[in-house]
Amino acid sequence: MERILYTADAPGVLLDVIIAEASPASLFILADENTAVHCMPVLLGSSESAAGATLLVTPAGDGRKTLDAAESLWHRLVDAGATRSSMLVNLGGGMVSDLGGFVASTFKRGMRYVNVPTTLLGAVDAAVGGKTGINFAGLKNEVGVFARPESTIVSTCFFATLPQQELLSGYAEMLKHALLSGTDATARALSEVPDVHVGGLLDMMRESISCKELIVASDPTEKGPRKALNLGHTFGHAFEEFASERRRPVSHGHAVAMGIVAELVLSRMIYGFPSSTLYAVAAFVRENYAGLDVSCDDYPRLLGLMAHDKKNASPDAISFSLLHAPGSPAVDSIVNATDIRAALDIYRDLMQ
Ligand code: GLY
Repeated sequence: MERILYTADAPGVLLDVIIAEASPASLFILADENTAVHCMPVLLGSSESAAGATLLVTPAGDGRKTLDAAESLWHRLVDAGATRSSMLVNLGGGMVSDLGGFVASTFKRGMRYVNVPTTLLGAVDAAVGGKTGINFAGLKNEVGVFARPESTIVSTCFFATLPQQELLSGYAEMLKHALLSGTDATARALSEVPDVHVGGLLDMMRESISCKELIVASDPTEKGPRKALNLGHTFGHAFEEFASERRRPVSHGHAVAMGIVAELVLSRMIYGFPSSTLYAVAAFVRENYAGLDVSCDDYPRLLGLMAHDKKNASPDAISFSLLHAPGSPAVDSIVNATDIRAALDIYRDLMQ
Protein backbone atom coordinates (compact mmCIF):
# COMPACT_ATOMS: atom_id res chain seq x y z
CA MET A 1 0.00 0.00 0.00
CA GLU A 2 1.45 3.33 -0.95
CA ARG A 3 1.85 6.07 1.61
CA ILE A 4 0.38 9.48 0.79
CA LEU A 5 1.87 12.48 2.53
CA TYR A 6 0.35 15.96 2.39
CA THR A 7 1.95 19.36 2.84
CA ALA A 8 1.34 22.99 1.99
CA ASP A 9 5.11 23.50 2.04
CA ALA A 10 7.70 22.47 -0.50
CA PRO A 11 7.93 18.66 -0.70
CA GLY A 12 11.67 18.35 0.02
CA VAL A 13 11.49 17.76 3.78
CA LEU A 14 9.06 14.87 3.29
CA LEU A 15 11.16 13.53 0.44
CA ASP A 16 14.22 13.49 2.68
CA VAL A 17 12.33 11.48 5.29
CA ILE A 18 11.25 8.94 2.65
CA ILE A 19 14.77 8.66 1.26
CA ALA A 20 16.29 8.28 4.73
CA GLU A 21 13.87 5.42 5.47
CA ALA A 22 14.22 3.72 2.09
CA SER A 23 17.98 4.21 1.89
CA PRO A 24 18.19 3.60 -1.88
CA ALA A 25 21.49 2.61 -3.51
CA SER A 26 21.14 5.62 -5.79
CA LEU A 27 18.48 8.23 -6.45
CA PHE A 28 17.09 9.45 -9.79
CA ILE A 29 14.62 12.27 -10.41
CA LEU A 30 12.49 12.26 -13.56
CA ALA A 31 11.13 15.62 -14.72
CA ASP A 32 9.74 16.77 -18.04
CA GLU A 33 11.13 19.81 -19.86
CA ASN A 34 8.74 22.09 -17.95
CA THR A 35 8.97 20.68 -14.43
CA ALA A 36 12.77 20.50 -14.79
CA VAL A 37 12.73 24.30 -15.10
CA HIS A 38 9.83 25.31 -12.85
CA CYS A 39 9.58 22.62 -10.15
CA MET A 40 13.07 21.12 -9.84
CA PRO A 41 14.45 24.29 -8.18
CA VAL A 42 11.69 24.01 -5.53
CA LEU A 43 12.72 20.43 -4.82
CA LEU A 44 16.41 21.27 -4.79
CA GLY A 45 15.77 24.20 -2.46
CA SER A 46 13.92 22.07 0.07
CA SER A 47 15.63 18.67 -0.04
CA GLU A 48 19.14 17.51 0.74
CA SER A 49 18.71 14.16 -0.99
CA ALA A 50 17.59 15.79 -4.26
CA ALA A 51 20.96 17.50 -4.56
CA GLY A 52 22.72 14.12 -4.81
CA ALA A 53 20.26 12.66 -7.32
CA THR A 54 20.74 12.16 -11.06
CA LEU A 55 18.23 14.25 -13.02
CA LEU A 56 16.52 12.62 -16.01
CA VAL A 57 14.59 14.94 -18.31
CA THR A 58 12.00 13.72 -20.79
CA PRO A 59 10.06 15.68 -23.45
CA ALA A 60 6.80 17.20 -22.16
CA GLY A 61 3.27 16.34 -23.30
CA ASP A 62 1.08 13.24 -23.12
CA GLY A 63 1.97 12.49 -26.76
CA ARG A 64 5.58 11.94 -25.64
CA LYS A 65 4.64 9.09 -23.30
CA THR A 66 6.13 6.67 -25.80
CA LEU A 67 8.18 3.49 -26.00
CA ASP A 68 11.06 5.65 -27.32
CA ALA A 69 10.88 7.83 -24.22
CA ALA A 70 10.81 4.75 -21.95
CA GLU A 71 13.74 3.17 -23.82
CA SER A 72 15.78 6.32 -23.54
CA LEU A 73 15.17 6.40 -19.77
CA TRP A 74 16.08 2.70 -19.36
CA HIS A 75 19.36 3.49 -21.22
CA ARG A 76 20.05 6.38 -18.86
CA LEU A 77 19.44 4.14 -15.85
CA VAL A 78 21.77 1.42 -17.23
CA ASP A 79 24.47 3.98 -18.06
CA ALA A 80 24.25 5.48 -14.56
CA GLY A 81 24.53 2.05 -12.92
CA ALA A 82 21.03 1.97 -11.41
CA THR A 83 20.11 -1.24 -9.60
CA ARG A 84 16.91 -2.72 -8.23
CA SER A 85 17.81 -0.97 -4.97
CA SER A 86 17.80 2.44 -6.63
CA MET A 87 14.80 4.75 -6.46
CA LEU A 88 13.11 7.07 -8.96
CA VAL A 89 11.24 10.24 -8.01
CA ASN A 90 8.65 11.35 -10.59
CA LEU A 91 8.34 15.13 -10.49
CA GLY A 92 5.50 16.21 -12.76
CA GLY A 93 1.92 15.69 -13.86
CA GLY A 94 0.21 12.50 -14.95
CA MET A 95 2.43 12.03 -17.99
CA VAL A 96 5.58 11.94 -15.83
CA SER A 97 4.12 9.61 -13.17
CA ASP A 98 2.68 7.24 -15.82
CA LEU A 99 5.95 7.07 -17.76
CA GLY A 100 8.28 7.12 -14.75
CA GLY A 101 6.18 4.57 -12.86
CA PHE A 102 6.30 2.27 -15.89
CA VAL A 103 10.05 2.70 -16.41
CA ALA A 104 10.80 2.12 -12.71
CA SER A 105 8.52 -0.85 -12.24
CA THR A 106 9.89 -2.69 -15.28
CA PHE A 107 13.59 -1.81 -14.83
CA LYS A 108 15.36 -4.91 -13.46
CA ARG A 109 11.84 -6.24 -12.77
CA GLY A 110 11.04 -3.34 -10.53
CA MET A 111 12.76 -0.56 -8.64
CA ARG A 112 10.91 1.60 -6.13
CA TYR A 113 9.48 4.94 -7.11
CA VAL A 114 7.94 8.01 -5.45
CA ASN A 115 5.48 10.41 -7.07
CA VAL A 116 5.65 14.15 -6.48
CA PRO A 117 2.71 15.46 -8.54
CA THR A 118 2.97 19.06 -9.71
CA THR A 119 -0.59 19.48 -11.03
CA LEU A 120 -3.92 19.13 -9.25
CA LEU A 121 -5.06 16.61 -11.87
CA GLY A 122 -1.91 14.54 -11.37
CA ALA A 123 -2.24 14.65 -7.58
CA VAL A 124 -5.86 13.53 -7.34
CA ASP A 125 -5.71 10.97 -10.13
CA ALA A 126 -2.61 9.61 -11.90
CA ALA A 127 -0.17 9.81 -8.97
CA VAL A 128 -2.32 7.57 -6.77
CA GLY A 129 -3.31 3.97 -7.35
CA GLY A 130 -0.40 2.54 -9.33
CA LYS A 131 -1.65 2.67 -12.92
CA THR A 132 1.50 3.16 -15.01
CA GLY A 133 2.08 2.96 -18.74
CA ILE A 134 2.80 4.42 -22.13
CA ASN A 135 0.82 5.07 -25.30
CA PHE A 136 1.36 2.49 -28.02
CA ALA A 137 0.08 1.81 -31.56
CA GLY A 138 -1.94 5.03 -31.45
CA LEU A 139 -3.76 3.98 -28.27
CA LYS A 140 -3.47 5.73 -24.91
CA ASN A 141 -1.98 3.75 -22.02
CA GLU A 142 -1.97 0.62 -24.18
CA VAL A 143 1.13 -0.90 -22.53
CA GLY A 144 1.68 -0.69 -18.80
CA VAL A 145 1.58 -2.36 -15.42
CA PHE A 146 -0.17 -1.88 -12.10
CA ALA A 147 2.65 -0.94 -9.72
CA ARG A 148 2.02 1.23 -6.68
CA PRO A 149 4.53 3.96 -5.81
CA GLU A 150 6.38 3.61 -2.54
CA SER A 151 4.95 7.00 -1.53
CA THR A 152 3.24 10.01 -3.04
CA ILE A 153 3.92 13.52 -1.74
CA VAL A 154 1.03 15.90 -2.34
CA SER A 155 2.35 19.44 -2.01
CA THR A 156 0.05 22.33 -2.86
CA CYS A 157 3.07 24.62 -3.23
CA PHE A 158 3.20 23.73 -6.92
CA PHE A 159 -0.41 24.69 -7.56
CA ALA A 160 -0.10 28.40 -6.70
CA THR A 161 1.08 29.20 -10.22
CA LEU A 162 -1.34 26.93 -12.09
CA PRO A 163 -3.89 28.76 -14.24
CA GLN A 164 -7.49 28.47 -12.99
CA GLN A 165 -8.36 26.34 -16.03
CA GLU A 166 -5.71 23.81 -14.92
CA LEU A 167 -7.15 23.74 -11.41
CA LEU A 168 -10.62 23.21 -12.84
CA SER A 169 -9.30 20.36 -14.93
CA GLY A 170 -8.13 18.58 -11.77
CA TYR A 171 -11.29 19.52 -9.94
CA ALA A 172 -13.37 17.46 -12.39
CA GLU A 173 -11.74 14.31 -10.98
CA MET A 174 -12.46 15.59 -7.45
CA LEU A 175 -16.11 16.08 -8.39
CA LYS A 176 -16.11 12.48 -9.66
CA HIS A 177 -14.68 11.23 -6.34
CA ALA A 178 -17.30 13.24 -4.46
CA LEU A 179 -20.10 11.63 -6.50
CA LEU A 180 -18.60 8.22 -5.76
CA SER A 181 -18.42 9.06 -2.04
CA GLY A 182 -22.02 10.11 -1.46
CA THR A 183 -24.54 12.92 -1.13
CA ASP A 184 -22.71 15.01 1.49
CA ALA A 185 -19.39 14.95 -0.36
CA THR A 186 -21.20 15.86 -3.60
CA ALA A 187 -22.92 18.84 -1.95
CA ARG A 188 -19.58 20.02 -0.55
CA ALA A 189 -17.85 19.67 -3.93
CA LEU A 190 -20.61 21.65 -5.64
CA SER A 191 -20.38 24.46 -3.09
CA GLU A 192 -16.67 25.11 -3.72
CA VAL A 193 -14.59 26.22 -6.64
CA PRO A 194 -10.93 25.29 -6.39
CA ASP A 195 -8.74 28.18 -5.43
CA VAL A 196 -5.30 27.63 -3.97
CA HIS A 197 -5.32 31.09 -2.49
CA VAL A 198 -8.32 30.65 -0.18
CA GLY A 199 -6.89 27.63 1.62
CA GLY A 200 -8.85 24.48 2.30
CA LEU A 201 -7.64 22.89 -0.95
CA LEU A 202 -5.34 20.50 0.88
CA ASP A 203 -8.21 19.19 3.04
CA MET A 204 -10.43 18.83 -0.01
CA MET A 205 -7.68 16.89 -1.76
CA ARG A 206 -7.15 14.66 1.28
CA GLU A 207 -10.84 13.76 1.28
CA SER A 208 -10.89 13.24 -2.48
CA ILE A 209 -7.76 11.09 -2.60
CA SER A 210 -9.00 8.94 0.33
CA CYS A 211 -12.08 8.13 -1.74
CA LYS A 212 -9.84 6.91 -4.56
CA GLU A 213 -7.59 4.99 -2.14
CA LEU A 214 -10.57 3.12 -0.66
CA ILE A 215 -11.78 2.07 -4.10
CA VAL A 216 -8.28 1.08 -5.26
CA ALA A 217 -7.70 -0.93 -2.05
CA SER A 218 -10.85 -2.94 -2.77
CA ASP A 219 -9.75 -3.78 -6.32
CA PRO A 220 -6.13 -2.79 -7.13
CA THR A 221 -6.10 -4.28 -10.64
CA GLU A 222 -9.53 -3.06 -11.79
CA LYS A 223 -11.37 -6.35 -12.08
CA GLY A 224 -14.60 -4.84 -10.75
CA PRO A 225 -15.25 -2.06 -8.21
CA ARG A 226 -12.31 0.11 -9.39
CA LYS A 227 -14.12 0.54 -12.71
CA ALA A 228 -16.32 3.03 -10.80
CA LEU A 229 -13.42 5.49 -11.19
CA ASN A 230 -14.20 5.55 -14.91
CA LEU A 231 -17.38 7.55 -14.21
CA GLY A 232 -17.56 10.35 -16.78
CA HIS A 233 -14.70 8.94 -18.82
CA THR A 234 -16.49 7.01 -21.58
CA PHE A 235 -18.22 10.17 -22.80
CA GLY A 236 -15.26 12.23 -21.52
CA HIS A 237 -12.64 10.49 -23.69
CA ALA A 238 -14.95 10.75 -26.71
CA PHE A 239 -15.51 14.49 -26.08
CA GLU A 240 -11.75 15.03 -25.64
CA GLU A 241 -10.89 13.23 -28.87
CA PHE A 242 -13.79 14.85 -30.75
CA ALA A 243 -12.69 18.34 -29.64
CA SER A 244 -9.12 17.66 -30.71
CA GLU A 245 -10.28 16.37 -34.12
CA ARG A 246 -12.24 19.62 -34.52
CA ARG A 247 -9.02 21.53 -33.64
CA ARG A 248 -10.71 23.05 -30.58
CA PRO A 249 -9.01 20.95 -27.89
CA VAL A 250 -10.38 20.83 -24.36
CA SER A 251 -8.41 19.65 -21.34
CA HIS A 252 -8.91 16.13 -19.99
CA GLY A 253 -10.67 17.48 -16.91
CA HIS A 254 -13.02 19.70 -18.91
CA ALA A 255 -13.96 16.71 -21.08
CA VAL A 256 -14.49 14.58 -17.96
CA ALA A 257 -16.70 17.24 -16.34
CA MET A 258 -18.92 17.24 -19.44
CA GLY A 259 -18.71 13.43 -19.55
CA ILE A 260 -19.92 13.27 -15.93
CA VAL A 261 -23.05 15.25 -16.86
CA ALA A 262 -23.77 13.00 -19.87
CA GLU A 263 -23.24 9.88 -17.76
CA LEU A 264 -25.43 11.16 -14.94
CA VAL A 265 -28.14 11.61 -17.57
CA LEU A 266 -27.70 7.91 -18.47
CA SER A 267 -27.69 7.08 -14.75
CA ARG A 268 -31.01 8.94 -14.40
CA MET A 269 -32.51 7.17 -17.43
CA ILE A 270 -31.39 3.67 -16.43
CA TYR A 271 -31.18 3.67 -12.63
CA GLY A 272 -33.30 6.62 -11.54
CA PHE A 273 -30.30 8.68 -10.32
CA PRO A 274 -31.81 11.65 -8.39
CA SER A 275 -32.76 14.43 -10.78
CA SER A 276 -32.00 17.16 -8.20
CA THR A 277 -28.33 16.07 -8.07
CA LEU A 278 -28.18 15.73 -11.86
CA TYR A 279 -29.44 19.32 -12.26
CA ALA A 280 -27.07 20.63 -9.58
CA VAL A 281 -24.04 18.94 -11.21
CA ALA A 282 -25.12 20.14 -14.68
CA ALA A 283 -25.46 23.74 -13.40
CA PHE A 284 -22.00 23.56 -11.79
CA VAL A 285 -20.39 22.19 -14.96
CA ARG A 286 -22.24 24.70 -17.17
CA GLU A 287 -21.01 27.55 -14.99
CA ASN A 288 -17.39 26.47 -14.56
CA TYR A 289 -16.47 24.47 -17.65
CA ALA A 290 -16.65 25.67 -21.24
CA GLY A 291 -19.28 23.79 -23.21
CA LEU A 292 -18.47 21.74 -26.26
CA ASP A 293 -20.64 22.36 -29.29
CA VAL A 294 -22.19 19.06 -30.28
CA SER A 295 -25.00 18.67 -32.82
CA CYS A 296 -27.07 15.62 -33.84
CA ASP A 297 -24.79 15.24 -36.87
CA ASP A 298 -21.89 14.53 -34.50
CA TYR A 299 -23.55 11.58 -32.74
CA PRO A 300 -22.23 8.85 -35.11
CA ARG A 301 -18.64 10.09 -34.61
CA LEU A 302 -19.06 10.25 -30.82
CA LEU A 303 -20.53 6.73 -30.76
CA GLY A 304 -17.64 5.52 -32.93
CA LEU A 305 -15.10 7.08 -30.57
CA MET A 306 -16.78 5.51 -27.54
CA ALA A 307 -16.80 2.07 -29.16
CA HIS A 308 -13.12 2.48 -30.11
CA ASP A 309 -12.23 3.60 -26.57
CA LYS A 310 -13.83 0.45 -25.19
CA LYS A 311 -11.88 -1.58 -27.79
CA ASN A 312 -14.13 -4.61 -28.36
CA ALA A 313 -17.45 -2.89 -27.78
CA SER A 314 -19.73 -2.25 -30.76
CA PRO A 315 -21.35 1.21 -31.10
CA ASP A 316 -24.60 -0.49 -30.11
CA ALA A 317 -23.41 -1.94 -26.78
CA ILE A 318 -21.05 0.33 -24.92
CA SER A 319 -20.06 -0.28 -21.32
CA PHE A 320 -20.28 2.61 -18.83
CA SER A 321 -19.54 3.13 -15.15
CA LEU A 322 -22.69 4.83 -13.90
CA LEU A 323 -24.35 5.58 -10.57
CA HIS A 324 -27.61 4.43 -8.96
CA ALA A 325 -27.21 7.44 -6.63
CA PRO A 326 -24.25 9.37 -5.17
CA GLY A 327 -22.05 6.78 -3.44
CA SER A 328 -23.70 3.83 -5.20
CA PRO A 329 -21.82 2.85 -8.40
CA ALA A 330 -23.15 0.66 -11.22
CA VAL A 331 -20.12 -0.60 -13.17
CA ASP A 332 -20.33 -2.60 -16.42
CA SER A 333 -23.60 -0.93 -17.44
CA ILE A 334 -24.16 -1.85 -21.09
CA VAL A 335 -26.04 0.87 -22.93
CA ASN A 336 -27.42 0.76 -26.49
CA ALA A 337 -26.98 3.47 -29.14
CA THR A 338 -30.59 4.68 -28.88
CA ASP A 339 -30.17 5.45 -25.18
CA ILE A 340 -26.78 7.07 -25.77
CA ARG A 341 -28.30 9.37 -28.41
CA ALA A 342 -31.20 10.21 -26.05
CA ALA A 343 -28.66 11.02 -23.28
CA LEU A 344 -26.80 13.32 -25.68
CA ASP A 345 -30.06 15.15 -26.50
CA ILE A 346 -30.73 15.75 -22.79
CA TYR A 347 -27.07 16.61 -22.12
CA ARG A 348 -27.21 19.32 -24.82
CA ASP A 349 -30.39 20.78 -23.28
CA LEU A 350 -28.81 20.83 -19.83
CA MET A 351 -25.63 22.51 -21.06
CA GLN A 352 -27.40 25.39 -22.83
N1 GLY B 1 -7.78 6.92 -13.17
C1 GLY B 1 -8.64 5.92 -12.67
C2 GLY B 1 -7.92 4.87 -11.91
O1 GLY B 1 -6.82 5.08 -11.43
O2 GLY B 1 -8.44 3.79 -11.79
